[in-house]
Amino acid sequence: MADSNAAWLGPSRSDWCDLLHANGYSDDNPEWANMGQGAPETGDLPDGPPRIRNIDLSQWGDGVNEYAPTTGIRELRQAVADYYNQQYRQGMKSQYTYENVCITPGGRAGMARVAAVIGEVYTGYQIPEYTTYSEVLSVFKNLVPVPSALSAEDKYKLHIETLKKEMQDMSLSVIVASNPRNPTGQAIVGDDLEELVQLSRDKVTLIMDEFYSWYQYPDDPKDLGTTLSAARYVQDVEEDPVIIINGLTKGWRLPGWRVAWVVGPKSVISAVGQSGSFLDGGASHVLQAAALPLFEPVRLKQDIISLQKTFRSKRDYALMRLKRMGLEVKVPPRATFYIWLDLSGLKEPINNGLVFFEELLKEKAICVPGIFFDINPSKRRDLFHSPCHHFVRLSFGPAQDHLEKGMDAIERVLAKHKHSAYLMGKK
Ligand SMILES: Cc1ncc(COP(=O)(O)O)c(C=O)c1O
Repeated sequence: MADSNAAWLGPSRSDWCDLLHANGYSDDNPEWANMGQGAPETGDLPDGPPRIRNIDLSQWGDGVNEYAPTTGIRELRQAVADYYNQQYRQGMKSQYTYENVCITPGGRAGMARVAAVIGEVYTGYQIPEYTTYSEVLSVFKNLVPVPSALSAEDKYKLHIETLKKEMQDMSLSVIVASNPRNPTGQAIVGDDLEELVQLSRDKVTLIMDEFYSWYQYPDDPKDLGTTLSAARYVQDVEEDPVIIINGLTKGWRLPGWRVAWVVGPKSVISAVGQSGSFLDGGASHVLQAAALPLFEPVRLKQDIISLQKTFRSKRDYALMRLKRMGLEVKVPPRATFYIWLDLSGLKEPINNGLVFFEELLKEKAICVPGIFFDINPSKRRDLFHSPCHHFVRLSFGPAQDHLEKGMDAIERVLAKHKHSAYLMGKK
C-alpha cells in the first residue's frame, strides 16, 4: 500500500491475480478453498433439474452455424420476454415482447453495450458496488460518475428520499445499481423497489443489474421460490426508462455459456442491439439455441427452489462458523452468495482487508479485499481512508467443501494472530 502522504487510488485486479499465482494458487488444486470466486457452483443440486450435458442441434439445421443477429435469436428473445411477463407481470396490460429483449455475450457485454448507447450524463452509483462498474464508468467517458456511500450502520439501505435529493442536487440522469447487491448481499425490495421504479418516471434512467435475482433467502418458507425484479413495478414497458440486465451466469449457474440479456423499451433495445456489431459481435448462436429449454416454467421453478435451498444452507453454515470464531456478521446477506465481512473488531494488522487476504492466502484460501468494491472510476478520490479497507468479501458460490476448507483456513489465521474471541473459547 502507498505511504500516507500519497493519494492511494485503489488496487488493480491484475495485482490480485498476480498475488494469487505467486502464492501457488491454481484453479484445479483441491488443496485450495476459493471463497473469492464470483461464480456459483455449476454441478447438480439436490432436487434440481438435470444439468444440460448434451446439446442436440438437429432441429436448427445448418443455420445455427451462422452468425446470430447482434440482438440475439428471436426465439430466445421471446422466451426471455415470456419469463419476465410470467414471473412478474401477470395480469398487467403492458407486456414485454421479443422487441424488448437483446441477447448479449454475458452481463459485462450487456453493461458495456448499454453504456455505449447512453448520451453524456451524470450517472449515480452507490459504494460498495460490483467492481466492473469501475471499468465501465472509466472507459465510457460519456457516463460521468457520481458516487454516494451506503453505510453498514444503516444496513446498506438505499434511501429513496436521499436519492431524490441527489438526483436534483447533482442533476443525475442515470442510476446504476446491482440489485441484489454485490458485495453486501442486501437488496432493494417491495415498496422501496416500487418507489425506485416510480422515480424513473421523473426522467432518470434506471439500469438494474439483476444477476442475483434468484439468490433470495426469505425467512418465511412460503416465500421459497420468490425472485426479484424491477420488472414487477414497470407500468408501461415502452414508457418507463427501466433497463434490466440479467443472464444465465448466476441464476441458471451457467457462467461459461456467456448468454445474457438486456430488457427495456424497444428504442433502447434496438440501439443496444446495434452497438453489439462493433463491440462484441453477439452471443454464441449455438448456446442461444441450447438455452431455450432452460426457460420451460416447470423446470424454472425446480431450478430456483433447489438453488435457494442449497445456497441458503451454505450461507447459514458460513455464518454459523464465523459466529463461532467471534466474527459475527452484523448485516447478514439476505440475497446473493456473498458475505461482506467486517474485520474492524479484529486486532491489527488483520483488521485490514488486504492483510487479511494475504494471511488467508498463506492458509490456501481466497477472499476478495473489500477495497476492490470501493469503485473509483475517475481515480479522483484517495482511497487511503476508505471504509471498505476493514472488509473482505467471502463467496459461498463454490461448493460446500470449499466453504468448509475456507472456514478452517480463517480459523487458522485467527489462531495465528491470537484473535481474542477465538482464544476465549467461543469456538
Ligand atoms: C452484479 C454482477 N453483474 C454482472 C456480473 C457478470 O456477469 P457476466 O459474467 O455474465 O459478465 C457479475 C459477476 O460477478 C456481477 O456480480
